[in-house]
Amino acid sequence: MITKQKGTYDIYGEEAKKRLYVNDIIKGICEKYNYTYIETPVFEATELFHRGVGETSDVVKKETYDFVDRGERSITLRPEGTAGVVRWFIENKLYGNMTEPVKVYYNEKMYRYERPQSGRNREFTQFGVELIGSDDVMADVDVISLAYQTYTLLGLDTKIKINTLGDNESRLKYKDALIKYLEPHMDELCEDCKERISKNPLRVLDCKIDGEKDIIKGAPITLDYLNEDSLNRYNKLKDYLDLLEIPYEEDPRLVRGLDYYNHTVFEIYTDIEGVNFALGGGGRYNGLIKELDGPEMPAVGFAMGYDRTMIAIDAAGVNIPYKKDIDVYVMYVSDSEKETASYIVQNLRLNGFTTETDYLNKGLKGEFKSADRFNAKFLIILNDKDLESNEVNVKDNVTKEEEKVNINDLIDYLDMHD
Ligand code: HAM
Repeated sequence: MITKQKGTYDIYGEEAKKRLYVNDIIKGICEKYNYTYIETPVFEATELFHRGVGETSDVVKKETYDFVDRGERSITLRPEGTAGVVRWFIENKLYGNMTEPVKVYYNEKMYRYERPQSGRNREFTQFGVELIGSDDVMADVDVISLAYQTYTLLGLDTKIKINTLGDNESRLKYKDALIKYLEPHMDELCEDCKERISKNPLRVLDCKIDGEKDIIKGAPITLDYLNEDSLNRYNKLKDYLDLLEIPYEEDPRLVRGLDYYNHTVFEIYTDIEGVNFALGGGGRYNGLIKELDGPEMPAVGFAMGYDRTMIAIDAAGVNIPYKKDIDVYVMYVSDSEKETASYIVQNLRLNGFTTETDYLNKGLKGEFKSADRFNAKFLIILNDKDLESNEVNVKDNVTKEEEKVNINDLIDYLDMHD
């Protein structure tokens, strides 16, 4: 038997209905914040992600699905959405005569070769937004607000951890200080971190092995190395968040796992028991567009993991309102009844009723059972004799009341009794 691949899953039944509900919330909120929908390809040139996400990030070093295609091209399945959006932005020269920032959202499958566990899969879905073309703190706040409100609308209490990495100057100063601090502790670090110290020491701070060690907890923090501009910017961000009453916690050790960030970084957590991972995260990435051969262009964004959000929704006992029942089940026996049934089913569906019928010629007994399984509110029972006078039997499956109704009056009748 062929089974699904490790770290992948099928989404069906109730889980699928819940996800469609989450999609609706996302679509609604993105409309309000005026982000437009975008889809980018599942696979791109390997170079895009390796340069974009960063050669020293865990994602690129250990987790990308890279392969050579039949045309000898080096291809990578997208591990995240930001690099693809930036490639689209540059390729279409959208920076040409920008009158407004570009604001897009995506809702797509991503691929990372990780060790599968709760909330961590190899194929997973991310909802994300990118705002390209504004360096204003208000843009950072727009993105954080959208993220926060999405979780709130989904019925989740979240807290946002924020930090700043500062601008390039501040980051370099911090990097030097961190290297000076870490070098004497080299022996206490894992093999990967030993390498990270020279290449990208910030990565040591969120190492899955060393991250919880006391040496890391005692490491210098970015806040102490910010220049005046970067500090002002961070303070302004907090002022805005206060003004908009978005609750946040400062986490001076938050650096994020991808290399492209500067200034604002944030992650979203919840206190729900058993949900001890970030539900989403993002930040500002002013250097990425230049890094990918575009112009100097500021940008900020965020992405939410669906899998983790669904786990949180279930753990918090959030009741997601999705339609469990159908409105009408149409029943028939003979071939002539079946033809009329087919016409009635279509007519009801076109008039907004969730309608089901029998595709297996089960006969009345089987059809009654199916109607109960679907929890149908109304049963429409056809028989040739009633059809001679263009009538059908309508039964309210809750009150059990039955009435003969002319086929032409069915919609009005059901509307009145619904
Ligand atoms: P990220 O923190 O790598 O950021 O991923 C965002 C979210 O995707 C995570 O918080 C998590 O919920 C989910 N996620 C990541 N990896 C997995 C996995 N293996 N299985 C299940 N869920 C996962 C980014 O991807 C950035 N592109 C976010 C961003 C957008 N920054 C700026 N713009």
